Amino acid sequence: MLEKMLYPTDFSEVSRKALRYLKVLRGAGVKHVVLLRVINDKTMAAIAKGVALSGKDVAKFLKEVLESLRQEAWNDMRPIEEELKEAGFEVTTRVEEGVPQTKILEVAEEEKVSAIILGSHGRSNLSAVLLGSVSDYVIRHSKYPVIVIKRD
Ligand SMILES: Nc1ncnc2c1ncn2[C@@H]1O[C@H](COP(=O)(O)OP(=O)(O)O)[C@@H](O)[C@H]1O
Ligand SMILES: [Mg+2]
Repeated sequence: MLEKMLYPTDFSEVSRKALRYLKVLRGAGVKHVVLLRVINDKTMAAIAKGVALSGKDVAKFLKEVLESLRQEAWNDMRPIEEELKEAGFEVTTRVEEGVPQTKILEVAEEEKVSAIILGSHGRSNLSAVLLGSVSDYVIRHSKYPVIVIKRD
């Protein structure tokens, strides 16, 4: 029933906690993990604005920034990928760009996952909010079950 899990991560403390729970799910029959990091389009748009103001070649600059963000994301993903493999999972690692919540749902569909596991909060981790913006959207719109790991 829970063969293949989508685990999106922003490398935050709460998403690290979700990873600990995911590893326990190996014993519940989870075989395959799709590990996903989404590079936020909004970040790219903000950078583009800044560069345009500076009068530099926006397209060229953005290409370089994206390349370096992708490289950084892959570097951060590798140890997590290793950790999951050591725990006995088959792992598919993906780095995508877009709006994180929509990309997460798109990848869930593409990979035909059994369920999604994520943190209740991420990098913003605002104390007053019940759910982060990404987790809120994913819970509302996912057609797959969503396992939400709460922050401490
Ligand atoms: N850019 C992203 N790529 C992949 N997963 C993400 C991304 N942003 C958030 N997530 C996932 O969604 C969870 C909730 O994050 P989010 O809703 O963004 O909280 P916050 O608003 O506190 O940043 C994270 O723990 C992580 O599992
Ligand atoms: Mg966030």
